[in-house]
Amino acid sequence: MSQFQIAVIVGSLRKDSFNRQLATALARLGPADFQFTQLRIDDLPLYNQDDDGQQAPSVLRLKGEVKAAQGLLFVTPEYNRSVPGVLKNAIDNASRPYGQNAWAGKPAGVIGTSIGAAGTAMAQQHLRNILAYLDVPAMGQPEAFVHANEGLFDAGGNIGEGSKKFLQGWMDHYVAWVKKHA
Ligand code: FNR
Repeated sequence: MSQFQIAVIVGSLRKDSFNRQLATALARLGPADFQFTQLRIDDLPLYNQDDDGQQAPSVLRLKGEVKAAQGLLFVTPEYNRSVPGVLKNAIDNASRPYGQNAWAGKPAGVIGTSIGAAGTAMAQQHLRNILAYLDVPAMGQPEAFVHANEGLFDAGGNIGEGSKKFLQGWMDHYVAWVKKHA
């Protein structure tokens, strides 16, 4: 079994999501002792504080997966200059009830890709704000605002040549960050 289990949260539910492809390709840049698992967030209820005493099975599953991980990897698009609602909903669900925040203390990486020139910069900044409140140590550097251009992925779904060196460097820093905090 891998020594480091990484819970990957993708902020897009779209079938052909560039961010899901990025999450998959990034995982291939990780070392052998890191296992990346994309968590399901499309079956979570809309967060409702009335449910705190009796959270849905899907919420309890997500919380269990997050708690069992040694690190988090958020790969998200930018929607209207912020994080998609589905991502915020997942974060909110697993942060409650008060005092039982599943995210706390888990080292995280934040990355995303967008067809827009700003490459998810504002969504990532908003996400960092949320993670700070939830006591998640998020890697500050290097930042990665990935432009979803034609060569981002090769035919096999790997990171294309143009971005490989940069994203391998990003992954190497992320691995060191997780090891330092896990
Ligand atoms: C977008 N898109 C977008 N892009 C961006 O760079 N900044 C933004 O604020 C937005 N806003 C936005 C809102 C909504 C509701 C949608 C559907 C899209 C475009 C976005 O980058 C593009 O659709 C990506 O392909 C979304 O990521 P996935 O689904 O491919 O991972």
